[in-house]
Amino acid sequence: MRVSLDFDLATPEPPPQASVDAAVKLLQSGYLFRYGEMGGEGNEAALLEVEFAAMLGAKYCIGVNSGGSAIFLALKAAGVQPGDAVLLNAFTLAPVPGALQHLGAVPVLVEIDERLVIDLDDLRHKAEGSGAKYLLMSHMRGHIADMDAVRALCTELGITMIEDCAHTMGATWNGVQTGRFGIAGAFSSQSYKQFNTGEGGLIVTDDPDLAARAILMSGSYMLWPQHEAAPPPEVFARWTAQCANHSMRMSALVAAILRPQLPLLGARNTRWRALHDRIAAQLVHQHIRLPRRPAAEGYTPTSLQFFVRGLTRAQIDALITDSTAHGVPIKFFGGDQPVGFTSRSPHWGYIDTGQQVERSEAILSTLCDIRLPLGLSDAQADTLAKVVLQSLQKVTPA
Ligand SMILES: Cc1ncc(COP(=O)(O)O)c(C=O)c1O
Repeated sequence: MRVSLDFDLATPEPPPQASVDAAVKLLQSGYLFRYGEMGGEGNEAALLEVEFAAMLGAKYCIGVNSGGSAIFLALKAAGVQPGDAVLLNAFTLAPVPGALQHLGAVPVLVEIDERLVIDLDDLRHKAEGSGAKYLLMSHMRGHIADMDAVRALCTELGITMIEDCAHTMGATWNGVQTGRFGIAGAFSSQSYKQFNTGEGGLIVTDDPDLAARAILMSGSYMLWPQHEAAPPPEVFARWTAQCANHSMRMSALVAAILRPQLPLLGARNTRWRALHDRIAAQLVHQHIRLPRRPAAEGYTPTSLQFFVRGLTRAQIDALITDSTAHGVPIKFFGGDQPVGFTSRSPHWGYIDTGQQVERSEAILSTLCDIRLPLGLSDAQADTLAKVVLQSLQKVTPA
């Protein structure tokens, strides 16, 4: 008997009541802007930065208005200039090359492997060939490369690494949290991430100059002393006249909604991983293969990826149509056009890289992706897996 999933997979996780209460209180006060001209004591954004820095074991934290802004500002504050080459793994989402375009930087695409992470041999090859001194390491869809090896290679070649942790809040490699391997980590609290504030971003770093520059460029007017997870005034003195205001700061309202979610991260990630692994264990089929997950990868999946193997393009399209009709929309990375949170480098017409990443293209040409909302019950997760298997059965009759 055919089954259907009766649950919208695009359901975001609502913030807890404490977020609602904090937001209402703030709204009633009117102090939605993070800085106060008469002093900003107790501002939600400054408090969030202190708490988030502590959570990551980082010295400094800067709240901004989106994950894309966090990436842009982290790279700019790390010193990326227009025309600079920046290494980037070829599996990522549009805001990441978008940040590079915004910087006027030149992306150098690095191949990925079957685990959906950066290929270390190609990283060395592209780094040596291009002379790039920056790596934007995107942990796309929560797949984490051997970060010890990536870091060692960056150190060897004098490369400054910035991590895009939009999908890896709380994730680890060998017990170390993502965002702590390079000079800075950039996080997002857009609705489908581990924390939901609609929009929001955070930068963590131990580098005082990067932190001061990011704070100034985020648009702190002359009120940067109201930051608490920040370096001392003498560091700001080096940069105040040098940094443009890009007005990307975080609003106090976003911070108020985010702070009560911080203590929920562990439980949320445990549930996400249980949901992922439960479904993955059921997706056993000759035409399905899941990316390998090494023991060192402390993954925190908010979505599930699988490859469809041995199917024609028409069969893949039929699979997606049938599965969607039964309540499980499958996103596909192999499409000619970017659709709903998928894209590949040929879609980024605004940055003509002129580079072929054929191996990555071949890998992504069979990659499917399903969102995993936290509200999904075990029974619904089982139904989700059944829908995919039944749709696959239908398009590949024996
Ligand atoms: C891999 C990746 N990096 C960065 C971002 C940017 O996040 P934001 O939407 O907060 O700008 C996203 C957004 O989904 C993403 O998927």
